[in-house]
Amino acid sequence: MRRFLLTLLAVKAVCSTYVATESPISKAGLLANIGSSGSLSSGAYPGIVIASPSTTNPNYLYTWVRDSSLVFKTLIDQYTLGQDTSLRSLIDSFVQAEATIQQVTNPSGTVSTGGLGEPKFYINETAFEGPWGRPQRDGPALRSTAIITYADWLIADGNTSHVTGTLWPVLQLDLDYVANNWNQTTFDLWEEIDSSSFFTTAVQHRALRQGASLATAIGQTTSASQYTTQADNLLCFLQSYWTPSPGFMTANTGGGRSGIDANTVLASIHTFDVNAGCDDTTFQPCSDKALSNLKTYVDSFRNIYSINFGIIANAAVATGRYQEDVYQGGNPWYLATFAVAEQLYDALIVWNKQGSLTITSTSLGFFQQFDTSLTIGTYTTSSSTFTSLMSAIKTFADGFVAVSAQYTPSDGSLSEQYSRSNGSPLSAIDLTWSYASALTVSAARAGQTSASWGANGLTVSSSCLTSNAPTVSIEFNVNATTLLGENIYLTGSVSALTNWGTSNPILLSSVSYPIWSTTVNLPANTEIQYKYIRIYNGQVTWESDPNNEFTTGASGAQTLNDVWR
Ligand SMILES: *[C@@H]1O[C@H](CO)[C@@H](O)[C@H](O)[C@H]1NC(C)=O
Ligand SMILES: *[C@@H]1O[C@H](CO)[C@@H](O)[C@H](O)[C@H]1NC(C)=O
Ligand SMILES: *[C@@H]1O[C@H](CO)[C@@H](O)[C@H](O)[C@H]1NC(C)=O
Ligand SMILES: *[C@@H]1O[C@H](CO)[C@@H](O)[C@H](O)[C@H]1NC(C)=O
Repeated sequence: MRRFLLTLLAVKAVCSTYVATESPISKAGLLANIGSSGSLSSGAYPGIVIASPSTTNPNYLYTWVRDSSLVFKTLIDQYTLGQDTSLRSLIDSFVQAEATIQQVTNPSGTVSTGGLGEPKFYINETAFEGPWGRPQRDGPALRSTAIITYADWLIADGNTSHVTGTLWPVLQLDLDYVANNWNQTTFDLWEEIDSSSFFTTAVQHRALRQGASLATAIGQTTSASQYTTQADNLLCFLQSYWTPSPGFMTANTGGGRSGIDANTVLASIHTFDVNAGCDDTTFQPCSDKALSNLKTYVDSFRNIYSINFGIIANAAVATGRYQEDVYQGGNPWYLATFAVAEQLYDALIVWNKQGSLTITSTSLGFFQQFDTSLTIGTYTTSSSTFTSLMSAIKTFADGFVAVSAQYTPSDGSLSEQYSRSNGSPLSAIDLTWSYASALTVSAARAGQTSASWGANGLTVSSSCLTSNAPTVSIEFNVNATTLLGENIYLTGSVSALTNWGTSNPILLSSVSYPIWSTTVNLPANTEIQYKYIRIYNGQVTWESDPNNEFTTGASGAQTLNDVWR
C-alpha cells in the first residue's frame, strides 16, 4: 500500500515538473515554426505555420490548414484569455495568410469550386500540385473555429468593424463551404481514408454553431439560419458513429479497420464546451459515450506496443493513432497520448464544476477501472465515491502526461512519434501540433477552459435519423421446441418487425431446429423491443414478459441468440 501511494505521488510529481518545464519549451518550439520570423521556419510567409522543419522522410515543410488552425486556436485562446498579449500581430498575420491561401487555385478547385478543401500548401502560399488525399473537409471548419474565437473577442472589445470588414469575408467562405459540403465524403485527419469521419463531422458541427452565433451577432441573418439548419443535420449525423458494443465512436465509415482511433479523442477535446456538462450528443469529454470510447481506445494499445507490456490494466500507457497504423513504423504519438490526459482533465473540470458525476451503464466499464465495486448512479461531492474517483482519475490522467514525459528527450523537443519498442523520438522532428498539444494539455490540467461554443442545450431532432436512415442486418435465433405444425414468428417495436402485429408476423426458419432463425434489416442506432410468438392452428401464444430488448449498432451485422421464454 505504501509503495502504491509512493508511486501515485511520483506520477503527480513527474507530471507537475514536466508540465512546468515543457510548457515554455513547447511555446518556443511552436513559435519557431511560424513564419516569417520563426527560427526554424525560414522561407515561410508571415503567419504561415510549417508542420515541422523536417524536409526528408518525412517531408513536412508544408502548411496544413488543419495543423495551422489547431496551432492558432491555441495561440488565440492564450491571447483572448489575456495570457499573452504579445500575440496580436501574429494572429492578424495568420488571418491574412489564410485569406490569401483561400484564394489559391489548387487541385481541389478554385475558391468557389471546392478549393477550400485542399489540405496543404507550400509555405510560400502556392499550391501543392502532387497527388494527395484530398479533399480534407475539416480544415475550413477548424480555421473558422480559431478565427471566430478571435472575432468574438474583438466584438466584446468594441472592434466589430475589424470583424465585419476583415474576418467575416474569410469566415463566410469557410462556413458556406462547410454548410454546403459536409454531406460529402472526405479524407480523414490522417489523410488515409476517404469516407465520413467522426472528427470532421464533430468539428464541422462546432464551426457551424459558432458561425451561426457570430452571424447573428453581426446581422448576417440569412447565413445564421443556413448554418443552424446544417448544424442540426450534422448533430444528427454525428450520432450515427456510435457503436454500442463495446462502446466507442467509429472513427471512419470506410477503411475496413477496427474504427478505434485517436480521431475520436481529439474530436472530444476539440469540441469541449465547459458549459455543456456531460452531454453525450456532442460527446463532451465527461459524457458516458466519450468515456467508454476513451477506455476502448486506450486499451487497444496495451498489447501492441512493447513499451506498454507489463503495465497494469488500469494504468496509463503510450497511445497512438490506431492499432493498425504502420505509417513511419506505426508508433505512439505525443499528441495522441496528451489527448487522453486532456480529455480526462476536461472531464474533471466539469465534474468539479457541477459537483457530481454520474455513472451510467455505458460508462460503468470506464469507472470500474478504478473500483470494480462501483455501480450505476450519481455521486455528489459529499460522497466518498466522488472524492476517491476524482483523485484516481486525476492520477490516471497524470499518468499519460508522465508517459510522454518519460519519452521526451532532455531538451524537451517533441517529434511526431516515439518508438513503440523503446520510446525514442521518431518521424518528423519538432512537430508544431505536438507542441500545441503539450500546451493545451497543460492548460486543461491547470483547470483552464476556452470560450464556450454553444454546445449546451442542443437536442437531436427526433425525425432526423429516420428519413435517410442507415440500417443494420440482425440475425435472430431462438431455441424453441415445437409441436408438429406449430411455427415460431417474430414481432416487435419497429415497422420492420411489423409494429407488434400478430396478423402478419415474420415467420422463422426451422432448418436448424430447435433453433428457429431469420435475418431482418433494422434501423441503425435504435433501441428495439421484440418477442417471439408461436402460432398453432391459428392460436397465438406470446413469450412471457418482459419484452426482449437491445440496441442496434451503427452499421454492419449483429446476431441475437435467444431461448424461448
Ligand atoms: C514556392 O515554393 C515551391 C516549393 O519550394 C517552389 O517550387 C516554388 O517555385 C515557389 N513559388 C514561388 C512563387 O516562390
Ligand atoms: C481592430 O483590430 C485590428 C486588428 O488587430 C486593428 O488593426 C485595429 O487597429 C483595431 N481597431 C481598433 C479601433 O482598435
Ligand atoms: C449524408 O447524410 C446522411 C443523413 O445523415 C447520412 O446517412 C450519410 O451517411 C451522409 N453522407 C456523408 C458522406 O456524409
Ligand atoms: C436448446 O435448449 C435446450 C433446453 O434448454 C437445450 O437442452 C439445448 O441444448 C438447446 N439447443 C441448442 C442448439 O442450443
